[in-house]
Amino acid sequence: MCGIVGYLGHRQAVPIVVAGLKRLEYRGYDSVGIAMIGDGKVKAIKTAGKVAEIEALVAADRGAASVCIGHTRWATHGEPSDVNAHPHLDCHNHIAVIHNGIIENYSVLKKKLVDSGHFFRSSTDTEVLAHLIEELSRWSKGLEEAVRQALQQVQGTYGVVVISDREPDTLIAARHGSPLVIGHGEGEYYIASDASAIAEHTRRVSYLDDGELAVITRQGMRAKTLGDVETTKSIQELAFDLARIERGGYDHFMLKEIYEQPETIRDAMRGRLLAADGEVKLGGLEHVRDRLVGARRIILVGCGTSWHAALVGEYMIEHIAKSPVEVEYASEFRYRSPVLSANDVVFLISQSGETADTLAAMREAKSKGAAALGIVNVVGSTIARESEGGVYIHAGPEIGVASTKAFTSQLTVLALIALYLARARGISSEDCRVLAQELQSLPTKVSYLLQVSGRVKELASEFKDARNFLYLGRGANYPVALEGALKLKEVSYIHAEGYPAAEMKHGPIALIDENMPVVFLAPKDALYDKVVNNIHEVRARRGRIIAVANEDDREIEQIAEFVLRVPRTYGFFGPIINVIPLQLLAYYIAIARGVDVDQPRNLAKSVTVE
Ligand code: M6R
Repeated sequence: MCGIVGYLGHRQAVPIVVAGLKRLEYRGYDSVGIAMIGDGKVKAIKTAGKVAEIEALVAADRGAASVCIGHTRWATHGEPSDVNAHPHLDCHNHIAVIHNGIIENYSVLKKKLVDSGHFFRSSTDTEVLAHLIEELSRWSKGLEEAVRQALQQVQGTYGVVVISDREPDTLIAARHGSPLVIGHGEGEYYIASDASAIAEHTRRVSYLDDGELAVITRQGMRAKTLGDVETTKSIQELAFDLARIERGGYDHFMLKEIYEQPETIRDAMRGRLLAADGEVKLGGLEHVRDRLVGARRIILVGCGTSWHAALVGEYMIEHIAKSPVEVEYASEFRYRSPVLSANDVVFLISQSGETADTLAAMREAKSKGAAALGIVNVVGSTIARESEGGVYIHAGPEIGVASTKAFTSQLTVLALIALYLARARGISSEDCRVLAQELQSLPTKVSYLLQVSGRVKELASEFKDARNFLYLGRGANYPVALEGALKLKEVSYIHAEGYPAAEMKHGPIALIDENMPVVFLAPKDALYDKVVNNIHEVRARRGRIIAVANEDDREIEQIAEFVLRVPRTYGFFGPIINVIPLQLLAYYIAIARGVDVDQPRNLAKSVTVE
C-alpha cells in the first residue's frame, strides 16, 4: 500500500515522478505529494486527494529540479489530509522523507523528539523519521549515517526514501518489509515501490532486500546492510508489457481485466499443460516434486481473493489428486504457532507477492522446515524471490483494486497443480488427458461467456439499490459465493455475505424477505439437486433469486427470477467460469451507483502492512 517514486539524474525530475505516481495510484489514493531539490532547497508540494490534484499543482511550474521523490498514500496513522500527506519534513525543511509501512514505536520516539524541541506538523508515524534523521544529523558524518542510525531505532516496517538539501545529489532508500525496486538508466536512477512506475524508462532493475539501504548518487549506487556492510546487487532485466498497464479503450481497469480472462487463463496454462499427452509440466515444482507428492499435508495460505482461490484449490487438489489439503488465512496462520515440519508443503498464494501477512506466513513456514512455495503474479516480488520455488500465474499487471483476472489465473494454476500431483500419485495419463482437455477448453468457453453476458447490466440496474445481498454455493462453488460477495462489497459498498448454501438454514435464512437478493451458484454438477432444494427454501420465503446456471438447464427458469447462463464444464473447474458473471454483476452495480470501481474507498491494491 502507498506508492513511492523517486528520480535522480539529468532530466526534469518532477514530470517523471508525477507520471510514476499515476501508475502507482492503485496502491493508495487518499493523498499525494512530492518533494524536489531546487535552488539548493527542499521544496514540498502535497495535498489530500488523488494524483490529478498534484498534477494540477505542479502544472504551472515543474521546476528544473533533477532530484525528486513522490508518494501516493493509503492512510494508516492520521486521516487523509494535506498535512498528513507525504513527504514529511524536519523542523527546518532540509530533509524530506516518503515512507511505506508502519513505524510501530513512533509514539515513544515522537515524545523524545518533542522533549528535545522538535516541532511536529502531522499526526502520522512517518514524520518521526524526518525529525529523527534531523536529530541524528547533528552528530553523524552525513545523511547516510543519520538515516542508518535512525532506522536502527525504528521498530516496524518500511520502504523509505530520503533526500536532503545538504546533500542535494543523493537519494537514500531503505527497505524492511515494504518493497523497493531501483531502476538503472544512463547516468540516472529511479526508485519505486512497484516496477510499473518506472518500466517506461528502464528495464534494468535491482531489488532491495529487507535490512538493506541504498545510497544513490550521480556516480552510482551502493547497497549496504543497516550494519554498514556492503552488499552486491545484481541487475535484472524486467519483462514488462506497457500496454498491459493502459486501459486500452475500456472505461475501467476492472472491466478490461475481466475481459482479459480468456487470454490470461490461457497464459497460465501455456507451455505447462500438454493436454494431448495427459501431462502437466511445472518447472518451478520439479525440485520439490518428491516432497510435494509425499507431503503429510499441503497448506494453502492467502488473504482476501487469494484465500478464496486457496479454498477452491482445496476442493480441486483433494478431489483430483487425493492429497490432504488445509487452507489458512495468512494473518491467522502466522500468529497461531502452527505445528509444521519438513513433511509439510505450504503454498503462499498472492497476486502481488507483497502482502505483509502472506510474506510473514512464508517466513514462519520456512523457519519451521516446511517447503514454502509461491503461487504469485508479480515477477520479482518478495514472495517470488524468497520462496523455495513455485508457479507464476502470468496474469500480467492487475491494476483494478478488485482482483478479477488474478483469481481465475490462480484457480487455473491450482488446477494444474492438482493434475500434476494426480499424475505423480498414479492417475493414468488417459484420465489426466480427459481433465487436461477440459481445462484447455476453458479460455474459449470464457470468451463465449463474455460475449453473451449482456443480461448482467439489466440485472445490475434492477438491484443497484439493494441494501444487502446473499451469495450461496456448494462444494467448489462455495468459495465462488464468497468471492462474488467480496467483489460486490469492494466496489459497490453494498453489504453482501457469502455462505455455503446448506448453512443458510442454520441462521442466515432469518434475513430472507422480499427485499433480499440471493445469488445461487447452480451449475449442473453433483450437488445441483441439493442447490435446487436450497433455492426452493429461499423462494418459499419470497427472497429474490438470481441463479448462475448452465445454458442447457431449463428447470432453473421455473424457480429463479433471473438466470445468468454459463457454459458447462467439469465440476471442479467450474469456479473458473462461474465467478465471471459475479465479477460483471459487481462491476455494473458499482457503475450504476456511481462508484469509482478502480479506486473504491478505503482499499489499496497491495496490503503491505499488517
Ligand atoms: O496481492 P494478494 O493476492 O496477496 O492480495 C490479497 C488481498 O489483499 C486481495 O485479494 C484483496 O482482497 C483484493 N482487494 C480482492 O479484490
